[in-house]
Amino acid sequence: MTSTPRKIIIDTDPGQDDAVAILLALASPEFEVLGITTVAGNVPLPLTSRNACLVRELAGRPDVPVFAGCDAPLARPLVTAEHVHGKTGLDGPEWWEPETAPEAQHAVDFLIETVRAHEPGEITFCTLGPLTNIATALQRAPDIAPRIRQLVMMGGAYFEVGNITPAAEFNIFVDPEAAAVVLAAGIPLTMLPLDVTHKALVTRARNDAFRALGNRTGRHVAEMTDFFERFDKEKYGSDGAPLHDPTVIAWLLAPELFSGREINVEIELAGTWTTGMTVADWWGVTDRPKNALFIGDVDADGFFRLLTERLARLP
Ligand code: RIB
Ligand code: CA
Repeated sequence: MTSTPRKIIIDTDPGQDDAVAILLALASPEFEVLGITTVAGNVPLPLTSRNACLVRELAGRPDVPVFAGCDAPLARPLVTAEHVHGKTGLDGPEWWEPETAPEAQHAVDFLIETVRAHEPGEITFCTLGPLTNIATALQRAPDIAPRIRQLVMMGGAYFEVGNITPAAEFNIFVDPEAAAVVLAAGIPLTMLPLDVTHKALVTRARNDAFRALGNRTGRHVAEMTDFFERFDKEKYGSDGAPLHDPTVIAWLLAPELFSGREINVEIELAGTWTTGMTVADWWGVTDRPKNALFIGDVDADGFFRLLTERLARLP
């Protein structure tokens, strides 16, 4: 007896790793993807929106609506990451001119209206970038918070420390005020920080397995990785790039591949050197409320087996 697909909304700043996460979701019948909302992050909003349209076309799913959202953080100037993702945000493969465009409706309005139009507990937010859209929706419509089933996010770092500053992970650093709003909203929250994503490295063998799928998706994922990995390999001397964002989708598909702890996580907003740091009370030294399932480990082989098998299902 197949269970009813989980209704999800993917909020994203594509970004090669976002693209792989979106492909994984669209390849998995366990999900009904109600929409893809884009936010400024890895590259500016016009590009993240264009890229989301390209990725849904790559997956053969032009039916999944894309909604452009916020083009700047709540209270700070936008910081982007072309040094990692390239000028377009999807550097690596040869892309085409998008045949589809985002909807006219703003992403924040889509988020609010969609949650209000469904029964409480029906919708899961999967966030892959800065949390500006989500925070704006929560500020504009606080009534939606108790109606959201779960929020699974890629973001933060503790033992792994920062990747954009010595203390902060990129998604949180870009909009720390938004992250603070989301963590305080009381939504059941799972965080996939660098502590776990840095254990999901696309080694040569794993990327060759994508390439060997023989479909356009596999070739595009391999070529995106060929480009995306150079930054992390150079910086960390690792034998592959961490595939950050697909861990969000994989956790929903196969939580048994992951492990973590329910702990308190706060966002540093006023640090001279530590703004955007996720202060994770991993050892329980405070009595602050446990507001997140903070994931620390993954069965990397199992994760890549799942991802590769699902990507094989796409065109
Ligand atoms: O720090 C990694 C995160 O920042 C990923 O979501 C990547 O796509 C970038 O947005
Ligand atoms: Ca991202």
